[in-house]
Amino acid sequence: MGRKESKRFADNKKVRELLQKDEWTKEEEEFIRLSYSGYGALNSSGSHLGQYFTPQKIVSFIHNLLDIPTGATVCEPSCGGGGFLNGLTDGVDIKACELAYEAAEVAQRLYPYAQIEQGDGLEFLEKHKESFNYIIGNPPYGSAIEAKSRFANKKGKVDPVVVFLEKGIEALQEGGILAMVVPDNILSDNKFQSFRAWALENALLLTSISLPTETFYFAGTSTKTSVIVLQKPVESIDYGDYPVMMAVCENVGWDSRGREISENDLPQILFEWKLFMQERSEHIERLNDTDIEEVDIPTPSLEEVNIVRDSTGQLQFDLIS
Ligand SMILES: C[S@@+](CC[C@H](N)C(=O)[O-])C[C@H]1O[C@@H](n2cnc3c(N)ncnc32)[C@H](O)[C@@H]1O
Repeated sequence: MGRKESKRFADNKKVRELLQKDEWTKEEEEFIRLSYSGYGALNSSGSHLGQYFTPQKIVSFIHNLLDIPTGATVCEPSCGGGGFLNGLTDGVDIKACELAYEAAEVAQRLYPYAQIEQGDGLEFLEKHKESFNYIIGNPPYGSAIEAKSRFANKKGKVDPVVVFLEKGIEALQEGGILAMVVPDNILSDNKFQSFRAWALENALLLTSISLPTETFYFAGTSTKTSVIVLQKPVESIDYGDYPVMMAVCENVGWDSRGREISENDLPQILFEWKLFMQERSEHIERLNDTDIEEVDIPTPSLEEVNIVRDSTGQLQFDLIS
């Protein structure tokens, strides 16, 4: 085990010990928030359930993409230690699910304002068809699981990320948005072609943002991933030939050995996205001759994003958490 893995192992062990305490000090809470990384790449038997937690910088970027309004219903179906729940504002109804007992407990104690169920997120999504305004997260991927899915093979098995997206789209209300980190193979491999065709028939792809391989360095994987944002269409709306924003993020602020670098493309992409969404709203309003608010599509507003240049001239955005 390398130095990074040994540290993760020791930190997770400490978190497990802290779970025995009824109350945590502020410092202990902060330690858990920052250091609990789950067991992805630490457990060679593969029984880590795909626990590669998303760095807070990417979570914050996705929160900023969505700008989730008060009163919205939000679901994180495989929440790990709850990273995607961090910083969601009061007044948002958050439901989350996590299969691993330990991670579910960590998430519930760190984010008491969310309702977290320990259990199968796929069953949870199935029970909540057409329920949510937003579905967020980073589902497990890789080793095929047995699941009820239109994309299961003859043995009834399927890559979990496919089923999380399938059931996720089904659990969105009309106009609702799903924003998730996914491995790139589901966006390009031939074997996922029928899934992609189904997804594009049942949702509108708003953006695909390619992330660099070092994004999950601290979580123990160099899998190439992207953030995708999908919207369940509102039946009464004509979207016409709609544009998709394709973006490539080459730098997230650290390199392939985890060393801090000054380059970070996320603020610029966020800025482009806000412009893109504003133009998209205007386009849909023109096509349908209606005010977009009347049809209640969650649309992030440009004004509310605080994108600024720092002293070195780099664009930065406010971190929510
Ligand atoms: C890639 S990790 C991401 C965790 C969290 N969404 C994040 O981004 O930090 C995937 C998570 O899914 C959990 N998981 C695996 N199978 C699951 C299932 N059937 N239902 C709910 N959670 C599951 C794993 O334990 C792990 O915490």
